[in-house]
Amino acid sequence: MTTTTDTTADRALKARHRAMWALGDYPAVAVDVIPELGPELVAASRVRAGDRVLDVAAGTGNAAVPAALTGATVVAADLTPELFVAGREFADRHGVTVEWQEADAEALPCGDGAFDVVLSCVGVMFAPHHQRAADELVRVCRPGGTIGLLSWTPQGFVGELFRTMKPYAPPPPPGSQPPPRWGDEHHVRALLGDRVTDVVARRQTLTTDPFPTPEAWRDYWKTVYGPTIAVYRTIADDPERVAALDRDLAALVARFDRGTDTTVMDWEYLILTARKRG
Ligand SMILES: C[S@@+](CC[C@H](N)C(=O)[O-])C[C@H]1O[C@@H](n2cnc3c(N)ncnc32)[C@H](O)[C@@H]1O
Repeated sequence: MTTTTDTTADRALKARHRAMWALGDYPAVAVDVIPELGPELVAASRVRAGDRVLDVAAGTGNAAVPAALTGATVVAADLTPELFVAGREFADRHGVTVEWQEADAEALPCGDGAFDVVLSCVGVMFAPHHQRAADELVRVCRPGGTIGLLSWTPQGFVGELFRTMKPYAPPPPPGSQPPPRWGDEHHVRALLGDRVTDVVARRQTLTTDPFPTPEAWRDYWKTVYGPTIAVYRTIADDPERVAALDRDLAALVARFDRGTDTTVMDWEYLILTARKRG
């Protein structure tokens, strides 16, 4: 049977996604912008010494490394192995061992029930086929184990960032779904369905470091964040569109800016944990 993940079109889509996440400097984003999210997810998911943990779409190990620091045995899986270089350095700096594995969240190379805890920190939300990815999270978690997910919400800054960039980006392939839907508790509950119990969800915010102006933040983001860099590349031949996106992004940042002398934003995310039914 042909599944979503073994078609030529899907392989090409995943190759584009891999190239996109390798653009810019995602390791800097993980360390400088969202470092507290990984430990937050690990704590909410109650990872303990001896647990077998899978971090899905792990990037440079923002959740995997703090999970390993608890004494858990951790596999960090991601579509973009280019990020593992920084991930290995991050793990080394903390004196922990993490196994790094190239993997598509929609087709994890892991056995059924292989992990006590399955985590994803602003990661699985970027796999385009939500149900397929959710099914994999559930499949590789053992009965009674924990699934812990941290995702940007649609109405929060990152959700609005993707909405702002959308008119400038190529149309998404048929069947792919917008990442910030994973930040909607009802959507995630429906994806996981009655295969899980004890769902706990709360919305929280991450406060960003100060920048001098919205434009300064936008210009920084244009150098580090793969999805934003990729959108600018698609319109690079059209200076008016580039200027329009520049204006739209600065206006978005200004809308979220609650700083006085500097630009400071609160980015909303959903943190959700669930227990796989025994
Ligand atoms: C915003 S980064 C988050 C990385 C990390 N979890 C963190 O907290 O810093 C999104 C990650 O999702 C990964 N990713 C995107 N699509 C994926 C897929 N289909 N399967 C596995 N990983 C994927 C990217 O390579 C990237 O590392």
